[in-house]
Amino acid sequence: MPGKYLVFKHQVDGGSESLYLPINIYLLITECVGGNMKPYVILNSAMTLDGKIATKTGSSEISGNEDLLRVHKVRKEVDAIMVGINTVLADDPRLTVHKIPAEPSDNPLRIVVDSKGRTPLNSRILKSDAPTIVVVSKEAEPEKVKKLKEKVEVTVCGKERVDLKCLMGAIASRGVETLMLEGGSTLNYSMLINGLVDEVRVCVAPMIAGGFNAKTLVDGEGVDFMKDALALEFKKVYRLGEDLVLEYKVIN
Ligand SMILES: NC(=O)c1ccc[n+]([C@@H]2O[C@H](COP(=O)([O-])OP(=O)(O)OC[C@H]3O[C@@H](n4cnc5c(N)ncnc54)[C@H](OP(=O)(O)O)[C@@H]3O)[C@@H](O)[C@H]2O)c1
Repeated sequence: MPGKYLVFKHQVDGGSESLYLPINIYLLITECVGGNMKPYVILNSAMTLDGKIATKTGSSEISGNEDLLRVHKVRKEVDAIMVGINTVLADDPRLTVHKIPAEPSDNPLRIVVDSKGRTPLNSRILKSDAPTIVVVSKEAEPEKVKKLKEKVEVTVCGKERVDLKCLMGAIASRGVETLMLEGGSTLNYSMLINGLVDEVRVCVAPMIAGGFNAKTLVDGEGVDFMKDALALEFKKVYRLGEDLVLEYKVIN
């Protein structure tokens, strides 16, 4: 038989039977094992009244102090925080719990979705403050992956782009039950459109930034018709200083 196969022998009436499973199919199944499992995902973001999460130049100081404290309380509660690589490149975030009293052990696992392994080696997210995983695809340069591995854990998930369903399965199977998705807009879209977000919490600041090229809460390809838009169920609204916080459940 051409190609590489794994042989599984099993008992049938009157003897044994061999099942030949192509290795590539076996790898696909094992890579996606736990694919139906996922953590409870909270998409959290701060935006201006016109829906921008950064200005056209990438400036993203939006929340007031009270909202920042709220975000750090959520960080302390969840098992993991996840961001896209462009957020790391734009903001160089620490993604630790540092605005409220906390122990190093309160820092959740940090996850960077970074297909090509573009995370700069001097990024603050690679420092040893908290456990960190850079998730790359098979496209990532082996040399860069090797350098990243000297600092943090690197996991391969997906061929060209990070496969988010596989990633959610993989982290759920290692005990991550709750995850806060902290942007940016491209990753927010992919997570939402793949049905991987359970809740959306948005801080709306009393500002208007404008700009065709300024990032919004959710960018990506978008849907063609409003009937295809993701439906949300309102949960609550409250005021924090000058900001409004809106919380919704995603109806999948
Ligand atoms: N106001 C806020 O609360 C807030 C929060 C976070 C971020 N931001 C702002 O958001 C901006 C960045 O947003 P962004 O939309 O440019 O980038 P992003 O969502 O941070 O990162 C997107 C990148 O992630 C990588 N990726 C890998 N697999 C993916 C997948 N399956 N789906 C989606 N992305 C995947 C892609 O790059 P590769 O193909 O190279 O992997 C993609 O271009 C920054 O300006 C930042 O300041 C604001």
